[in-house]
Amino acid sequence: MSGLILAFETSCDETAVAVVEGTRALSNVLSSQVDLHARFGGVVPEVAARAHVEAIRGLTHRALLSAGVHLNDVAGVAATEGPGLVGALLVGHSFAKALAWSRGLPFLGVDHMEGHLFSPLLEFPDYQPPAVVLLASGGHTQLVHMRDWGDYQVLGETVDDAAGEAFDKLARVMGMGFPGGPAIDRASDQGDPAAIRFPRAMPHRRHHFSFSGLKTSVITYLEKAARRDELPDRADVAASVQEAIVDVLVQKTLNAVEDTGVKVVGAGGGVLANRRLRQKLAEAASQRGLSMYLPSPKLCVDNGAMIGAAAAYRLGQGEVTSWGAGVDPGMRLGFP
Ligand code: KG4
Ligand code: ZN
Repeated sequence: MSGLILAFETSCDETAVAVVEGTRALSNVLSSQVDLHARFGGVVPEVAARAHVEAIRGLTHRALLSAGVHLNDVAGVAATEGPGLVGALLVGHSFAKALAWSRGLPFLGVDHMEGHLFSPLLEFPDYQPPAVVLLASGGHTQLVHMRDWGDYQVLGETVDDAAGEAFDKLARVMGMGFPGGPAIDRASDQGDPAAIRFPRAMPHRRHHFSFSGLKTSVITYLEKAARRDELPDRADVAASVQEAIVDVLVQKTLNAVEDTGVKVVGAGGGVLANRRLRQKLAEAASQRGLSMYLPSPKLCVDNGAMIGAAAAYRLGQGEVTSWGAGVDPGMRLGFP
């Protein structure tokens, strides 16, 4: 199918709507709920769902307006089907389905993680599989061997916390607020990444991640310092924590590249907005002669355009989602 796709993403705490034509985003607008959740120190599912309901209609108008198109120009509608928070997913999915139904348009439910796999294409039209893709967000940390569009093998994933969750929890431990990733990223500017050597977990599992031990290690470090009446330098702790997470993400990505023999690396998810991670990934890729496709931060975080790009591919393959289909909060990439 060719033509304009109106795409919705409401899997977690951002209401996002985009108008996409193939792999080109004509608009990509977002209403973030960060301020609503900050006082709770994390995303509250019921609050997220309600905020999606309040935002989605106005945001749809904004997406159409900013693309300079009318609803009559739209040829297909897509929405995230999973994984994510069930109430949040239901808002975007039901809204999109009802819109498609009422206008006689095809509807497609999209795997959120497949959306992240497509996001580099929105800025780099030459991005093509086979590729190794690092996906790291608040909910997920995975290494994917993208053999072809639509053909994905999850090489490894986190066995406990996601990388973004680790940033968020550690920032809370350090009293830095929510979301923790951007706070640690900023605080690290003034710190020494080699000040404290926090553990790099699971060196023997080449593609899997574990971040819960890091949290214990940081808590233990801070408690010991408090018992000695010492006040550790916040920036040094932040930079050292960041370095521990970044090192593992980069190393395991390189392991996956080595084990698959691919030369192309893609990335996505909110954690890829981290400046140190971006710098170290780019350095590692250039040292090894790899082609690195790192979307700009606004396309790394959850957005509607990535859902539209994945939908354009799937609708182009002749796929449509039946009207009876629901959301799938536990959806897993590579599993039917
Ligand atoms: O992909 P995303 O927007 O939402 C999902 O979780 O699906 O990712 C949000 C996560 C949060 O955990 C946040 O702390 C993290 O991405 N994050 C960052 C940065 N910006 C966002 N982590 C590290 N450094 C950043 N600059
Ligand atoms: Zn995401």
